[in-house]
Amino acid sequence: MHLRDATDDDLDLLLDLLLEAFNWTGEARFTLDDVRSDPHTGRYLDGWRRPGDLGVVAVDGTAPVGAVWARALTADAPGYGYVADDVPELGMAVAAGARGRGVGTLLLSGFLDRARTAGWRAVSLSVEDGNTAARALYERHGFVPVGRNGGSDTLLRTL
Ligand SMILES: CC(C)(COP(=O)(O)OP(=O)(O)OC[C@H]1O[C@@H](n2cnc3c(N)ncnc32)[C@H](O)[C@@H]1OP(=O)(O)O)[C@@H](O)C(=O)NCCC(=O)NCCS
Repeated sequence: MHLRDATDDDLDLLLDLLLEAFNWTGEARFTLDDVRSDPHTGRYLDGWRRPGDLGVVAVDGTAPVGAVWARALTADAPGYGYVADDVPELGMAVAAGARGRGVGTLLLSGFLDRARTAGWRAVSLSVEDGNTAARALYERHGFVPVGRNGGSDTLLRTL
């Protein structure tokens, strides 16, 4: 298993993983078309990779098995975990067959190192109530709750 930086060519991979993140319960609550066409979910990856976007991909052999990505959104078109214009919001998912083997842990620590090196002051995210696997991972990496949006908490990790 190794990590590589996400590139301009990773849009389809990241869209698939964004869908996994929205469908974290295992039910197909959303389709790829929903995620792409809805303005609120579409803005996470629309036009990837813009200046300032940052992502990291976990690769097992030659197969990508997960990723973390982040982009700064603005107050007039925020994400669910919006905190400030200069605090990018992170998304992540690991392919269902590769979970529980430390891939998420490897990805998140690798991503936070890169974000710090890039000079970011903090990253935020939104985690839905009941997503205990993701929540535990985030808390172990120093994320703390700073807000609430619908049925989700907004978490912040200062860098
Ligand atoms: C959250 C996610 C990225 C974690 O990836 P992963 O590769 O399974 O993570 P790891 O193997 O590094 O395990 C992370 C921790 O979660 C724990 N965990 C795994 N499944 C769990 C569950 N159902 N309930 C509670 N903890 C769980 C693991 O035991 C591990 O803790 P440990 O290191 O103390 O043993 C992955 O489960 C996933 O892609 N979920 C669906 C998408 C999603 O929810 N994205 C985040 C949206 S906010």
